[in-house]
Amino acid sequence: MIPMKIKDGVFSLRSNHWDRKIFDELVPLPEGTTYNSYLVRGSEKTALIDTAYPPKTASFIAALKAMGLERLDYIVANHAEQDHSGSIPAVLGLFPDAKVIANARCRGLIRDAVPVDASVFVDVKDGERLSLGDKTLRFIFIPWVHWPETMATYVEEDRIVFPCDFLGSHLATTDLFAVDEARVEIAAKRYYAEIMMPYRPHCRNALSRLEELALDVIAPSHGPVYGRPAFITDLYRKWTSDEVKPEVVIPYVSMYDNTAAMVDYLTDRLVERGLSVRPFNVVDFDSGELSMALVEASTVVFASPTVLAGPHPSIAQVAFLVNILVPKTRFAAMIGSYGWGTTMPDVLSELLPQFKATFFEPVLAKGAPREDDFSALDQLADAIAAANASLGKVEQAALGG
Ligand code: FEO
Repeated sequence: MIPMKIKDGVFSLRSNHWDRKIFDELVPLPEGTTYNSYLVRGSEKTALIDTAYPPKTASFIAALKAMGLERLDYIVANHAEQDHSGSIPAVLGLFPDAKVIANARCRGLIRDAVPVDASVFVDVKDGERLSLGDKTLRFIFIPWVHWPETMATYVEEDRIVFPCDFLGSHLATTDLFAVDEARVEIAAKRYYAEIMMPYRPHCRNALSRLEELALDVIAPSHGPVYGRPAFITDLYRKWTSDEVKPEVVIPYVSMYDNTAAMVDYLTDRLVERGLSVRPFNVVDFDSGELSMALVEASTVVFASPTVLAGPHPSIAQVAFLVNILVPKTRFAAMIGSYGWGTTMPDVLSELLPQFKATFFEPVLAKGAPREDDFSALDQLADAIAAANASLGKVEQAALGG
């Protein structure tokens, strides 16, 4: 790791984790990730913004030593999660006189998980400033993006904000800045979908607070730095808005191709009606891909065969995921094949208490789908297309297929 200069006196200390495959044993990382720390050197004081994930502590401390710092006055903890707070004890070992700047809630959460003595903390309040001499830090509370204590730190003179996880991306890269915006957009959308989407209203609030600032640079704690802040704030404004796209996401499982035949038929009928459709076989799948698809889709159709009277467990798992991600989906349906009886729609509904989409009548085929079942799928396609048209999202000329 080598320090990279962002502006005079402001450096990135990025721990790349190229080969990490999964975060929290939950979030797939197809492009690895980073843990970003930043050093801000004022004329009188020096502050470190966040630290590093514990397995990266040794290289992080080595990089700090290599910078030849004579003293460190402050460690700012924007967020208590250990991928950013986990190296605080090691940094304090190197600079025992440093104080840890955090809000009271963050202090408590750090001390729950990381051995840091209470005496080293200095609590800050929302909007409070801390002078480093010719640089001033301002602390901006942006709770619930994605923990209750999350905070951003703004360097007023340099117009740089450090929002920790918020606006970040899981993308290991040696590029200091987000130069390949198309690539970074995908990584940032995946990050938003998996980490931030459940807190969409809080993301909107956080975005409003950051957009009040004069900004030259946004420097998050994962992924590259944004030298063009509008790139990421425009994306977040779109993702966090109530607007949806005329897209239908169909997570499905099929055991004897009957449910798959229904998915194929419905997909074609929806495409004929001007909608974009994304079926996902969820037996062995990347949950991040599905999460990304849910960011802006108007409609979700759960497609499951019946197993032991209920949904296939893989679809039940997807329903659980959809429920906790709380996407802004407006419309939904359930389709699938069964043998001699089913409670699939009832069981799935019970797994979706937070999912507020309007459900259409389920389409359930006994065994292989037949003429009546396909007619019911035609009607479902009509209903989905009409609902989307009512949002003004489907060209009327494309309707009626
Ligand atoms: Fe990157 Fe919530 O920690």
